[in-house]
This record gives sequence, C-alpha cells and structure tokens, in this order.
Amino acid sequence: MENMINGVRIMLVAISAEDRKYISGLLTDETLRIVSTFRPDKDGLRKASSQPADVLLIGTRGVPDTELDFAERMFTVRSDITILLLAPAADAKTISRAMESGIARVIDIDSGEHAIRTHILTAANRDQSRRSTVQKIASYDSKVIACYSPKGGVGKTTIAVNLAYALVSMNKKIALIDLNLQFGEVGVFLDIPKGDTIADMAEESSFELSTVKSYLIRHQSGMQVMLSSSSPEYADLIRPEHVDAIISTLRTEFDYVIVDMGTTLGDNTVAALETTDIILLIVNEDIAALHDAKRSLKVLEALNLQDKVNLVINKDGMSSITVKNVAGLLDTNPVAVIPYDLKAAMMAVNRGIPMLSCAPTSKASKEIFAYARRLIRKA
Ligand SMILES: Nc1ncnc2c1ncn2[C@@H]1O[C@H](COP(=O)(O)OP(=O)(O)OP(=O)(O)O)[C@@H](O)[C@H]1O
Ligand SMILES: [Mg+2]
Repeated sequence: MENMINGVRIMLVAISAEDRKYISGLLTDETLRIVSTFRPDKDGLRKASSQPADVLLIGTRGVPDTELDFAERMFTVRSDITILLLAPAADAKTISRAMESGIARVIDIDSGEHAIRTHILTAANRDQSRRSTVQKIASYDSKVIACYSPKGGVGKTTIAVNLAYALVSMNKKIALIDLNLQFGEVGVFLDIPKGDTIADMAEESSFELSTVKSYLIRHQSGMQVMLSSSSPEYADLIRPEHVDAIISTLRTEFDYVIVDMGTTLGDNTVAALETTDIILLIVNEDIAALHDAKRSLKVLEALNLQDKVNLVINKDGMSSITVKNVAGLLDTNPVAVIPYDLKAAMMAVNRGIPMLSCAPTSKASKEIFAYARRLIRKA
C-alpha cells in the first residue's frame, strides 16, 4: 500500500497511562508509528476524529467496555481507518460486541510482541486494500434500499429516515425518497417544511440528473430528500416510469438511495421494488402484521423479487411473540431486530428530529446504527 510505505500510523487509545506506556513498549517496530495517544473519553473522541492515521488501536489489560463504546462512536465518524482492539483473550460475547462496534480485529495482548505487530500490520494492509476496492466499486455501484410492509404503522418511515441518517453520519452520500405517495410523512419526521415534491418532479419532461437533483431538499444532516406529494390527489400524477427514472438517475450519484414506501402494492410500488437492490420487509411482533407479511412474501415471490427481501423486526419486545416465532413463521432470519422504544420514537417524531440524533444511545437507535455498519461492511 502506498501510504503504508512510511509505516502504519497508529492512534493509541487506552484509559490508563500505564496501559498506554505498556502498549507503546510493545510496538517498537519501524513500520508501526504511534502518532498520538488519547484516552477513550470526549476529548479523545474529538482529537481522534480529525487526526490523520491508518489505525486506531484501542488497548486495555482489563475487560474492554468503555473501549467498545469508543470504537463504536469512532466507527461512525471515521470510515477511513482500521479499528483494532488489543485486550486479554476475549470471550465470544466480547468478540461479537467488538465486531458490532466496527472493530476489524481483536488481538490478544498476551500473544507476544511479534504476533501483535504482525496482526496490526496485516489487518491494516488488508483493510486498506479492501477499502480502496470498495471505494472504486461504490463510485458506480450504489445501493437502493426500500422500506416496505403491507401493514401500516410498523415503522417503515422510522427506519427509512434513521437508516438514512446513520449512513449519512458515516460519510455516505444519501438520497431519501418518500414514495408513500398518499400519506408520506418523511417531511414530518425530518421537520422539512413544504417544498418541491415528487409530484412536481413528475410534471417535468426530463429526468436528467441535474433536473432530478433540483427537486431534492437538503436536510441539515446532509441527506438529500425527495418529498412525497403534498396531497393524496396529486399521487395520481406519478406513474411507474417516473418512479423508475427517478431511482435509476439518483443511483448514479448517491452511495445509497433509501426509499420509504406506503402499504399498497400498486404499480408504483412494484416499479420501485423492481429497481431496488434490497427490500427491507418490516414486521412487528403482532399476528396481523405477520399474516400480512406472510401474504406479501408470496406476492413478492410471484413477482420474482424474493431474493431481495431482507426481514427487519421492529418494535421487538412489544408483545409476547418472540423473534424466533417470527423467523419461524416467515421462514426467514431477520437482518436486524430493532427494540421497542416508545419514548425515543415519540420524542423523535414530536421534535421532527431523527431518533438517532435526539436519542443516539437508545437501544433502538444503536441497532439501526449497527445495521448501517453491517451494510457498509458488506458493500
Ligand atoms: N422501534 C420502535 N419503538 C417504538 N415505537 C416505534 C418504533 N419504530 C416506530 N415507532 C413508532 O410507531 C409509529 C409508526 O411508525 P412509522 O410511522 O415509522 O410507521 P410506518 O410503517 O411508516 O407507518 P405508515 O404505514 O403509516 O407509513 C410511530 O409513532 C413511530 O414513532
Ligand atoms: Mg410511513
């Protein structure tokens, strides 16, 4: 790797001065260069966010905890660095939590200087080359993700808005389209006052990138939003070819195009689902929602769209129906299970701020962040 020629630049993070000193002592290798050391606190977070480096090495001779929270926060702001954890041999639970936090590799602090250095070097090299490939692919291969469910109120808009927010906070370029043409609520969730809508767009004769982009409204988070028609009667102006053209055009410019949908499986919805890469089928743990989901799975299968379907369970814990019950009934394992958190969800809607922004530590928010990270890792 080009920038590895001058050595791997390491930011070292550890709570205690002794640990920082101990770990520095292990890295006496000219290819590994500690460029800065911090504690995993607010100040460290601020410094580590802007410091040029290749690797963030988080170390402890104890059981990692604060360290993992720090990793998670860093992963959202620094998709350009490799995050490694140096800790005593970890159990499976810690390792899986580490992976969820965006840590690329857990290295045993007692495995000896040589092994530690080799692990850091290979992890940094591998991540660097993977990242440059991903960047190349990402420039022409964006992903379109639709949030769909045949039942109302399961959390399509909540997930679309917050997934968009999570990805934008990870430095991805995001377009969010409100395709709930009858009762779109993305504008409410994001407190975007009236503006151009998809119905205005549909009256254009051209669907060139510059035209489509001119109908996007920039949210303060940085995501670009296409609002749904301001009144249900305008929904009729939009035809499947518009939907198709808008999504196909936007995917040439954005890393992710997130589409929020209504509950009907009409022509416009089908057009959108056909151009989509991933259909997030959102369900709740309630019998009616599950039956509707089961039926719509059959319809999606008939449309030959079943391979794109990814199950998301939202409001987990709201009833006695378990994740296992849902997975069994729908014969699919969920890609994400988002906890029920009424307080965070309501606060977000009432304020017109994404839940991930106004309640980032809510369990529901954390799971959406984690899912966004998994999406990026898979890219
Ligand atoms: N994980 C959650 N925990 C608790 N409440 C939630 C959660 N997700 C969403 N909600 C709440 O559930 C309600 C419905 O959510 P949302 O509007 O996102 O659903 P929807 O599927 O888009 O509905 P519609 O079909 O009407 O468009 C909202 O009040 C929202 O705040
Ligand atoms: Mg909705």
